[in-house]
Amino acid sequence: MQENIKPLIRTAFEDEVLKGLTDYPKHLSSKYFYDEKGDQLFQDIMSMPEYYLTDAEYDIFANHSEKIAALFTADSTQFNLIELGAGDGKKTKIILQKLLDKKAKFTYLPIDISQNVLNQLSNSLHSEMPEVVVKPQQGTYFEALEAIVSQHNQSKNVILFLGSNIGNLLHPQAVIFLKQVQELMSKDDLFFVGFDQKKNPQTILDAYNDQTGITAAFNKNILVRINSELGGNFNIDKFLHWEVYDPETGTAKSYLVAKEKQQVYIQKLDLNITFEAWETIHTEISQKYDDKTINWLADKSGLIVQEQFSDSKNQYKNYVFKKA
Ligand code: AVI
Repeated sequence: MQENIKPLIRTAFEDEVLKGLTDYPKHLSSKYFYDEKGDQLFQDIMSMPEYYLTDAEYDIFANHSEKIAALFTADSTQFNLIELGAGDGKKTKIILQKLLDKKAKFTYLPIDISQNVLNQLSNSLHSEMPEVVVKPQQGTYFEALEAIVSQHNQSKNVILFLGSNIGNLLHPQAVIFLKQVQELMSKDDLFFVGFDQKKNPQTILDAYNDQTGITAAFNKNILVRINSELGGNFNIDKFLHWEVYDPETGTAKSYLVAKEKQQVYIQKLDLNITFEAWETIHTEISQKYDDKTINWLADKSGLIVQEQFSDSKNQYKNYVFKKA
């Protein structure tokens, strides 16, 4: 008789935790910061005075909405406004209102992995802007984008990717991402992307290392998730949140640093891990850009920059790309 052996199929989270914590130096992916608590902590980060990115992009939308809406409606055809990772839609609502004022013919298609986020966004739009035609798409960016493009292959698509989310990718991954979007674009489509800019290094360090400890809790949430979801026994207080910024490359990096030598056991992976005192886990990159780097990324991805918008303090930019 065959023994009752459980097949060893790991989730992506289990797989990446196993690989990342047995590697040297250790690393984990920032995509696992986000569960219900992580989403709330990120909302709190976006309201912090130190985290200038959100206000800067809002400033661009508020001050340039007329020009942005004119760009989207330039050929006066019906179009799809597709948003990758829609969130609460606070900034997008400024453009939606402008498009309504201009009597533009468009459908808003927010894409998000979380059905909960999409429901909240649809409900708020329904009560605040009932005229907007909203078609929420639950799924990963590319699954949903491919489905939209194949269903609406005649319409012009304007794709939004806001919040400097691209900055959480290293350049080679960012090129792969931009190229994947480019391959789904047609000649008249636009790709509108937010990129945080290089600036006084202290401003960047303050944004990612606030005194109230919200960013530290956000970074440590990955350990909290390993404890609750994978049966880990991390002592969260034995790790420090640490941020570094290299003004030459524009890369901000987040780490968790072990304050003392320690052992951690993760039950679901049957894994013992040793941390030496001051050993690190690299958890996130938040890339900062300049025009030269953006043009290089665009060139590598088959895109060209058609237009760019900057906030009043020149901290952040939205670039509008077309297919090259
Ligand atoms: C989501 N992403 C663009 C944020 C950033 O700025 O890298 C996440 C974040 N990490 C720490 N603070 C905010």
